[in-house]
Amino acid sequence: MTRKLFVTTALPYANAAFHIGHMMEYIQADIWVRFQRMQRDEVDGQLAPRTVHFVGADDTHGTPIMIAAEKEGITPQAFVAKIAAGRAQYLDGFHIAFDNWYSTDSPENVELSQGIYRKLRDAGLIQTKIVPRFYDPVKGMFLADRNIKGECPVCHAKDQYGDNCEVCGAAYQPTELINPFSVFTNATPILKDSEQYFFKLSDPRCYEFLKEWLNTPGRLQPEMVNKVSEWLGESGEKLADWDISRDAPYFGIPIPDAPGKFFYVWLDAPVGYLASLKNYCEKQGIDFNELLNDPATEQIHFIGKDIVSFHLLFWPAMLKFAGHPVIDKLKVNVHGHLTVNNEKMSKSRGTGISPLRYLNLGMNPEWLRYYIAFKLNSKVEDLDFTGEDFVARVNSDLIGKYVNIASRCAGFIAKKFDGKLAASLSDGAQGWIKRALVTADGVERQASIAANFEAREFGKALREIMEIADITNQYVDENKPWILAKDEAKIAELHDVCTAALILFRQLTTLLSPVLPGVAANVAKFLNDEKLVWADTDVASGAVSQAMLGRTIGAYSHLMTRVDAKMIEELFDAPPAATPAATAASTTASTTIGTAAAPAPATGIEELAPEIKIDDFVKIDLRIAKIVNCEHVDGSDKLLRLTLDVGEGRHRNVFSGIKSMYKPEDLVGKLTVLVANLAPRKMKFGVSEGMVLAASAADEKANPGIYILNPWPGAEPGMRIR
Ligand code: 2FM
Ligand code: ZN
Repeated sequence: MTRKLFVTTALPYANAAFHIGHMMEYIQADIWVRFQRMQRDEVDGQLAPRTVHFVGADDTHGTPIMIAAEKEGITPQAFVAKIAAGRAQYLDGFHIAFDNWYSTDSPENVELSQGIYRKLRDAGLIQTKIVPRFYDPVKGMFLADRNIKGECPVCHAKDQYGDNCEVCGAAYQPTELINPFSVFTNATPILKDSEQYFFKLSDPRCYEFLKEWLNTPGRLQPEMVNKVSEWLGESGEKLADWDISRDAPYFGIPIPDAPGKFFYVWLDAPVGYLASLKNYCEKQGIDFNELLNDPATEQIHFIGKDIVSFHLLFWPAMLKFAGHPVIDKLKVNVHGHLTVNNEKMSKSRGTGISPLRYLNLGMNPEWLRYYIAFKLNSKVEDLDFTGEDFVARVNSDLIGKYVNIASRCAGFIAKKFDGKLAASLSDGAQGWIKRALVTADGVERQASIAANFEAREFGKALREIMEIADITNQYVDENKPWILAKDEAKIAELHDVCTAALILFRQLTTLLSPVLPGVAANVAKFLNDEKLVWADTDVASGAVSQAMLGRTIGAYSHLMTRVDAKMIEELFDAPPAATPAATAASTTASTTIGTAAAPAPATGIEELAPEIKIDDFVKIDLRIAKIVNCEHVDGSDKLLRLTLDVGEGRHRNVFSGIKSMYKPEDLVGKLTVLVANLAPRKMKFGVSEGMVLAASAADEKANPGIYILNPWPGAEPGMRIR
């Protein structure tokens, strides 16, 4: 039977762009998925491809998103749609190949969440209770868990949210927080009675099920089994009922037969995994129910260690008692967090890594995939990124060991043998191939590499792959094709060595392809392979060499460059000092961006800049920006400090030399135009993250005015100007 894998990553809140931690999780899952897609399973004596459905979605519901949308004066639906529109650039940029990206704010999710709820209710696992809920007396609304902060009742960490502690991972009720306060008004919340719906996790059936589920061998990482066992207590006495309802106003899914009540976001968020799969099945013509009922189907979640309570207590219990068919094959793979220089990332300390900044600097996404994979194992350990280590690892392994093999041998095949590989190999070459691919104990390395990919021991898999690269390089070093090429009598030997080296290079590429899909696709083209399949790495069957002998290959072109350590400086360090031409303040007045104004011709207008093509124009990303705040800059008689909302879920700080023309209070709330992809510039007063466009006359003395642009009504923050 072929395995059928339904794989997900945690659904990100649709209130901000992805950060590098998201990319780490997606890269981990994507590597695992790509590895699985290369596998074949035996069915009736035949090998059939393994089925993998890899889906994600935006986690859209809850109070924070509702409030953020309200602040922007748009609907929550429009707000999350804007965030969703920004996802592809990250996913495509880092070669993350989800089959489907969907939303928890979808008809499928409403149907599935309400269906699961009804089944839980029928099973007697839903109970209503009148409970006191926190209420902000200043704002006049019930407070969601994430709108209340205070001290963790378990580990006493300060400034923790009302639902779970990011320090110790404990889940609790907001009313258990010590010294709670409203994040909106800082007011101490008061308690107000409200009827709430609870999932009865305290029911003995839940404990019995969870105990068995947790302890099923191979299902969870041992450290997770221990952690959740602690939460269960000796006999389930620590399991508290879970409040799954929230009062209107709430952006969420209505609870059936309960007017004014909505599902708490964490109830419908994991159901969003199923909703995305269902949506995908509908698009692909796959029978969703049949897939879930198929005994071959496994459901596998990749998540971070901060959200284990939701995935290892509530979610499996919900699925079990709603009669979810694949509960017996539900697996949750938990990873640690990404740290930088062993510290939690922090924007203000300049240790954050923005995935888009990484890409915009021209850094190769596969460097990061390799580095992350090299550091990943199957444990719940944090993964540390250090710049020097990154440069050394990528340059040494990918360039020095792997790419080096092809760059030293491929040229000779093209030049001396019309691109054709040798039709057979000498015993010596065959001996080296075997030595590279089979250990001294007779174990095929590809088999243990496959086992390590399967077990998410990516670091171990890559170390073994690099051992193959080391032996291959040793072979090339000893046989020196560049010397053989100088002697016509050694031409057959040259052919033999270069062919064997390229056979090993193909083997390495296939083994690396889950991690380096872009490079692997280019190598497949160069070697005239339709695609690289894992079965071809089998040494015993002879598949490794057979496919390559006598084959004509294409021209080799460079596969990957070294990391330049300077790039790392730009990735972390405060951006370089401003140059006059590119400073927001000094060029705001110029209608030509980043170039000095030309002298004024007789017409009185400035001479036109040299002609450009549309390709030049589209390089400049102009966006509508909302001025959410504006203030004077102490010590500057020219600048205003603008806080801009460009629809990115964060605010930008931009300095603009328009103080002579505008009062800050007149600009707040207005829309304008921003050059949004200009590299940030460090100025005396702080970093300017873009440039506001403004018009000015060529003759500044005659007309010193600077006029900022203001779009027509209907334009919204984040819209691109084309
Ligand atoms: O912690 C988070 O970012 C949540 N949005 C994860 C949800 S995972 C799943 F349950 F949807
Ligand atoms: Zn805690």
